[in-house]
Amino acid sequence: MGISIASFLLPLALVLNLVSVCNGGTTSAFVRNVQKGVNMSLDSDVFAVPSGYNAPQQVHITQGDLVGKEVIVSWVTEDEPGSIAVRYWSTDNSKQKKLAKGKIVTYRFFNYSSGFIHHTTIRNLEYNTKYYYEVGLGNTTRQFWFITPPEIGPDVPYTFGLIGDLGQSFDSNRTLSHYELNPRKGQTVLFVGDLSYSDNFPNHDNVRWDTWGRFVERSTAYQPWIWTVGNHEIDFAPEIGETKPFKPYSHRYHTPYKASQSTSPFWYSIRRASAHIIVLASYSGYGKYTPQYQWLEQELPKVNRTETPWLIVLMHSPWYNSNNQHYMEGETMRVMYEPWFVKYKVDVVYAGHVHAYERTERVSNIAYNVVNGICTPIKDQSAPVYITIGDGGNLGGMETNMTEPQPEYSAFREASFGHAIFDIKNRTHAHYSWHRNQDGYSVEADSHWFFNRFWHPVDDSTAHVFH
Ligand SMILES: *[C@@H]1O[C@H](CO)[C@@H](O)[C@H](O)[C@H]1NC(C)=O
Ligand SMILES: *[C@@H]1O[C@H](CO)[C@@H](O)[C@H](O)[C@H]1NC(C)=O
Ligand SMILES: *[C@@H]1O[C@H](CO)[C@@H](O)[C@H](O)[C@H]1NC(C)=O
Ligand SMILES: *[C@@H]1O[C@H](CO)[C@@H](O)[C@H](O)[C@H]1NC(C)=O
Ligand SMILES: *[C@@H]1O[C@H](CO)[C@@H](O)[C@H](O)[C@H]1NC(C)=O
Ligand SMILES: *[C@@H]1O[C@H](CO)[C@@H](O)[C@H](O)[C@H]1NC(C)=O
Ligand SMILES: *[C@@H]1O[C@H](CO)[C@@H](O)[C@H](O)[C@H]1NC(C)=O
Ligand SMILES: [Fe+2]
Repeated sequence: MGISIASFLLPLALVLNLVSVCNGGTTSAFVRNVQKGVNMSLDSDVFAVPSGYNAPQQVHITQGDLVGKEVIVSWVTEDEPGSIAVRYWSTDNSKQKKLAKGKIVTYRFFNYSSGFIHHTTIRNLEYNTKYYYEVGLGNTTRQFWFITPPEIGPDVPYTFGLIGDLGQSFDSNRTLSHYELNPRKGQTVLFVGDLSYSDNFPNHDNVRWDTWGRFVERSTAYQPWIWTVGNHEIDFAPEIGETKPFKPYSHRYHTPYKASQSTSPFWYSIRRASAHIIVLASYSGYGKYTPQYQWLEQELPKVNRTETPWLIVLMHSPWYNSNNQHYMEGETMRVMYEPWFVKYKVDVVYAGHVHAYERTERVSNIAYNVVNGICTPIKDQSAPVYITIGDGGNLGGMETNMTEPQPEYSAFREASFGHAIFDIKNRTHAHYSWHRNQDGYSVEADSHWFFNRFWHPVDDSTAHVFH
């Protein structure tokens, strides 16, 4: 008979998710396809330009203030500037439609000229309310909606999605689809950097920024994505005369940095529901006396755990990561800021950059001072858990080469594409899960109950014994 053993065993291996236990935590032995990612071609369905004269495209929203009562709506028009207004109304009050007006920016990059990039902030929104909004008034008008967060409070449940290093390959599309269909229903995406990977194309082909904007619109137009800057946003290309870092990114993706007294769009904070979220910039100065250092030094004491128990930090380059790819690239920033993270009891740090998934134990390494030589990560209940979620899809494929043996601080690691969900239940508990693209939508390939470091600082490690 024709049924080969191989065709029988392969699906079995995919289902079983065998794991092997090493010195550290778990290195998953999940069997996957490790081919290089394949770009979605320019004529892909996800890149289709919306029809109609001057139709708004690449619509995306993000939080516009410190507390979640403002939304920045951004979109691009190609034929002419078009209306700068957003019309919006709440479902409770649909007769009273309001207008908010913003501004338009454009930029050139080598021989590319951008469309008209609109940014309009809608203010004074009610909490916990569904709003409809329209852009493209006067020509092709498109309608979307979003739901504002609940008022800030210590026990407000809220669900954040975590996506990093998304790119525009077929894997990227799978990650986004899995996020959208996850029954845990992320309400806001915390995006940890590396958006379009346009810089991988000839002359950083900025057309790929536009295709990326159209690709993610199906999510970014309906829920805020909180942006972190990654190395693929630098777009530094002196060989073609482009010497101003972050030019495409900073024209296209705005952040509410002034609301948290930041002087740069690349580092800032927001408060949303029961979380205080600090976004750091791995590719801007962070040494002592730099603007980012001074800002963070003043920011951390402002976190009020009575109002926002959950302290979350986002950055692109991970501090703790046992993949050989990008190994120790985050080390210099770790040396600068880790003592603060321990002092202020950060609950969790999310990073991207490494195209694989990893979760650590609560660990710190802050004793070292050159003279004493004490440089070993130790178990520390005041320290955050570090999660690397740079497995959104990108273009380069998976990064499977890990340091061996698995370090003790590493609780779980696996080179597969996916996304994660941080599901805050109340001031003491949050349920975290990682979802790999090959699984069903509700499967949790890794999961963890977080106990809040301020309200319930009990040891929440489960994976393995860590000394
Ligand atoms: C930009 O230059 C590249 C390389 O010379 C060329 O292939 C491309 O068509 C040009 N694009 C535009 C918009 O002129
Ligand atoms: C686009 O809208 C403007 C302002 O309403 C109007 O003057 C113009 O005729 C419209 N263009 C087209 C092609 O519909
Ligand atoms: C991307 O995913 C969506 C939703 O699953 C699907 O409809 C679409 O055909 C996919 N496109 C590509 C190019 O994979
Ligand atoms: C995707 O496109 C980039 C830029 O053209 C190229 O370097 C890369 O090889 C492509 N990857 C695949 C798998 O086609
Ligand atoms: C923190 O928030 C609580 C509740 O709103 C308030 O009573 C307290 O004064 C705040 N603490 C600081 C240091 O601002
Ligand atoms: C894995 O990474 C190590 C350290 O960078 C390198 O020496 C080794 O050649 C890599 N192995 C493979 C199979 O790429
Ligand atoms: C907080 O949430 C956890 C998990 O759902 C639950 O077990 C616990 O009882 C909740 N605490 C309170 C005070 O409701
Ligand atoms: Fe990166």
